[in-house]
Amino acid sequence: MQDTLIEEIRALKIKHNAVILAHNYEPEPIQDIADFLGDSLALARWAKKSKAEVLVLAGVYFMAETASILCPDKEVLIPDPDAGCSLADTITPEQLILWKKQYPHAVVVSYVNTSAAIKALSDYCCTSSNAIKVVESIDPDRDILFLPDFFLGSHVVRMTKRKNIHVWNGECHVHAAIENEVMVNTVRHYPGAELLVHPECGCTTRALAIPPKEAESRILSTDGMLSYARTSPASTFVVATEVGLLHRLRKENPDKTFVAAHDDALCPFMNMISLEKIRDALRYGQYVVKVSPAVRTKALIPLERMVAVG
Ligand code: 13P
Ligand code: SF4
Repeated sequence: MQDTLIEEIRALKIKHNAVILAHNYEPEPIQDIADFLGDSLALARWAKKSKAEVLVLAGVYFMAETASILCPDKEVLIPDPDAGCSLADTITPEQLILWKKQYPHAVVVSYVNTSAAIKALSDYCCTSSNAIKVVESIDPDRDILFLPDFFLGSHVVRMTKRKNIHVWNGECHVHAAIENEVMVNTVRHYPGAELLVHPECGCTTRALAIPPKEAESRILSTDGMLSYARTSPASTFVVATEVGLLHRLRKENPDKTFVAAHDDALCPFMNMISLEKIRDALRYGQYVVKVSPAVRTKALIPLERMVAVG
């Protein structure tokens, strides 16, 4: 049954000159058929580089919008238009306009997990893999409004030591729910393991407080975790992020052990995408994600800056 579905998807991709771009949190069968698998920054870069006419975004809505902004000539499809993001929903354009009024000279840095309308009101976008670099590229005397993720923002403040960053109080419900105690208990079960933590996690500060003799902690994006695990001499890793990433970590490193810091860390939005919905997306050309030209023109500037910062 699944083989037939995969064959159908392959044939439809050829017919429509389409590629499938999947995020590292997608369910296993989708990761396995993706033409490209990566973190938010890598997906944006790949969308821009691809020669295909149709991009099927196996991920969440803001990722499809990002691809549409960067590639206006390509048809961008999301297999389920309800695949949203609890973090992106924590700020509305009206709220951002009010915040900007309080700090009229501030530079607005928006995490890529935001709507196109928020990006259009921003100066820079960033992802978890380049947030520190993006902030460091900004004049240190300028105030910065960093949104919407409080934990990523706090990590950027900690790493850049900048005093003039104001951080929005948003969170991803999946990462925020990875509790300190559960993470610490998991680490204690695996002496000698390294701890890999996504900066959206509420447990980041606690992870950094773990003495290195108990576990080395690294704060990394999903692609950052993948490249770190490839080269680290450690054999066991406790991973604090959405559990979909474990599939790729295990596949790429069959001799190493990867344990979820919290087994329940599953993003319901990423898991709304299925092979059937991808087949239907290709078969019926649904659901088209197209950002209006007025919003696109403004949102392209911060996104181009994000893609340019390595
Ligand atoms: P990255 O893949 O950029 O690390 O982001 C994680 C995430 O939560 C995407 O929604
Ligand atoms: Fe959004 Fe969190 Fe899901 Fe990522 S894991 S898509 S931030 S809800």
